[in-house]
Amino acid sequence: MNIRPARVEDLMGMQACNLQNLPENYTMKYYLYHAMTWPSLSYVAEDESGRIVGYILAKMEEEREGNEPLHGHVTSISVLRSYRRLGLAKKLMVQSQESMATIYRAAYVSLHVRKSNRAALSLYKDTLGFTVKNIEKKYYADGEDAYAMELPLQP
Ligand code: ACO
Repeated sequence: MNIRPARVEDLMGMQACNLQNLPENYTMKYYLYHAMTWPSLSYVAEDESGRIVGYILAKMEEEREGNEPLHGHVTSISVLRSYRRLGLAKKLMVQSQESMATIYRAAYVSLHVRKSNRAALSLYKDTLGFTVKNIEKKYYADGEDAYAMELPLQP
């Protein structure tokens, strides 16, 4: 398994992986926007044949309030079912976080996750050290609440 920065030609594979794994889906234009604007923040995991089996789509937060420090944001991460529990999501998160900190001097990284998403919550909280900053009521289209989570990054 290989983890590397996402390229424009990977975007279809990332979108296919996202469609299989999550109800939150995005237009190709939005994938392209991430890849063109923050080319060093999104990564893919590929198998021996080059198939995309996992991805992280990430960005820098553009709307800053007052003196709020610069921060990164994970738009979406997922790994195909048969490739889970191999440490791929952890590696994808760590790679993106390192780029946020070193390239963009991000002070922290944020994300949203469904309250019921046990696997992702364990990855964020227990493995990576994120904490819950807020509960956003009815954040998702089906009415489920989101945890807004954050992790400080080392400069
Ligand atoms: N149950 C409990 N803990 C889990 C689980 C699980 N099913 N999966 C991962 N974890 C935790 C464990 O602590 C694990 O460490 P361990 O294996 O040493 O016990 C740690 O996370 C790291 O696991 P990885 O192997 O790196 O995670 P994986 O590659 O399996 O991917 C992911 C985790 C991305 C949540 C995967 O289950 C998935 O794709 N789920 C569907 C899509 C999804 O929910 N994405 C996140 C939405 S939120 C967002 O995108 C911002």
